[in-house]
Amino acid sequence: MQHGERILILDFGSQYTQLIARRIRELGVYSEIKPYTIGLDAIRALAPQGIILSGGPSSVYADDAPLPEAGILELDVPLLGICYGLQVLAFQLGGRVDPAGRREYGRAALQVDRDTDLFYGIENGSQVWMSHGDHLTRLPHDFEVIGHTANAPIAAISSRSSKIFGLQFHPEVVHTESGRDILSNFVFRICGCTGDWNAASFVETAVEDVRSALGGERAICALSGGVDSTVAAYLVGRAIGHRLTCIFVDTGMLRLNEAQQVCDSYRNAPFDFIFVDASRRFLEKLQGIVDPERKRKIIGEEFIRVFEEQANQLGRIRYLVQGTLYPDVIESVSTRGPSATIKSHHNVGGLPEKMGLSLIEPLRELFKDEVRRVGSELRIDECILKRHPFPGPGLAVRILGDITREKLDVLRAADDIFIQELRQSDQYDRIWQAFAVLLPIQTVGVMGDERTYENVVALRAVTSLDGMTADWASIPNDILAHVSNRIINEIKGVNRVVYDISSKPPSTIEWE
Ligand code: XMP
Repeated sequence: MQHGERILILDFGSQYTQLIARRIRELGVYSEIKPYTIGLDAIRALAPQGIILSGGPSSVYADDAPLPEAGILELDVPLLGICYGLQVLAFQLGGRVDPAGRREYGRAALQVDRDTDLFYGIENGSQVWMSHGDHLTRLPHDFEVIGHTANAPIAAISSRSSKIFGLQFHPEVVHTESGRDILSNFVFRICGCTGDWNAASFVETAVEDVRSALGGERAICALSGGVDSTVAAYLVGRAIGHRLTCIFVDTGMLRLNEAQQVCDSYRNAPFDFIFVDASRRFLEKLQGIVDPERKRKIIGEEFIRVFEEQANQLGRIRYLVQGTLYPDVIESVSTRGPSATIKSHHNVGGLPEKMGLSLIEPLRELFKDEVRRVGSELRIDECILKRHPFPGPGLAVRILGDITREKLDVLRAADDIFIQELRQSDQYDRIWQAFAVLLPIQTVGVMGDERTYENVVALRAVTSLDGMTADWASIPNDILAHVSNRIINEIKGVNRVVYDISSKPPSTIEWE
């Protein structure tokens, strides 16, 4: 996509790299992450207004230390090194980096030594966040110290003659009180950006891009009713209208009344919409299947079959719209958590190759919260934009063991009560994802004077930023008690409810 202004972030493996990009975007400037190995020609082609070198776990003196191309120092583009990024810049310019006598993690008070440029308007004594083992012990030629802390005599540096800066602390984390202002100084005062990137300008450019990519062609899209595919479809719908056909497949693994709700929500959508009730096919294929990965595979394959049948009836179509997001496309050197390889997340993977389709991915530069803002800009119902993520295989991976119609009914009812109560008590929007799980065990209970031997339902609710890591959500006890009471009283066949208090890692969000 064409961007008026952009800040390039070179990733050296910091856990905070994505956070830097988000902070810059919050300032209204598009920013993009590339591996530190990116070549000079590729950087020139991106024509960034400024470059930020991220932190990272390495030491510049290690044999395999990640180093950027030395030529970036001569690009005549403002540079800001953060933590390892500062050490790399200083090292390449002839400074000296040593292991710190004492590693420094956590808060420190910043003393500003020069308040022009990077520290313009930054107050003395504000809290900054440190996280480093090595530190700078000798400045490169022509550099000066612009900030220090009690433990770090060199906490921030600046070149006297060119626009090169370095920070030993992390301006991107919220614990650095003036972090936003420091990044803002870099982006606006030093790089000269104007900050014209927002949801409205994104929509305008994306619609133009889709139009020119598709020419007069038609496209199809697999809608799930979730945020990503819906926003992608509305965006492409705005660009090409009814030349886009969206297909929504009921796999039989959806939640209570979900198929109907999803169909209703697309009633006035700017594209053609096809609903396929394939629930019986899926249920038959899943009969007796217990292994989670087999369930995923079967659902993935059957989905492709159903989709293909529908698409073939539409005639020759060459483009497939997908709601791929930025975290899935960043060629990051950071470790991205284990989940991607632990479960095969199918979505509609496999479709493009099989059907000879080219992909249109209008959201591939956006983070999830940005997608929601774009969705608002496109006037998509808040209800859809705030929906919790829902896995492609749906309830199939929330019924442990084999899947039957009866179990699906029990789980749907329990899940619905949980979600209703979370909405009623204003908990829903602060939670990343919440759902019920049906366990393949019976436990003993007593109801009236009768002994019962019935199913257990587990409740799962997590907070998260991106689903890669998550913490179990702390929900007030009285709400949990009420949910449990309702589930056991209202659903025949359940006599016990438990709450999952595991974080990810080491657990995952879904139980299968
Ligand atoms: P886990 O369970 O791996 O889930 O912690 C992380 C996020 O991914 C969703 N998820 C899936 N999404 N197909 C999908 O489209 C899948 O097979 C799948 N498995 C998990 C999960 O709901 C959570 O949001």
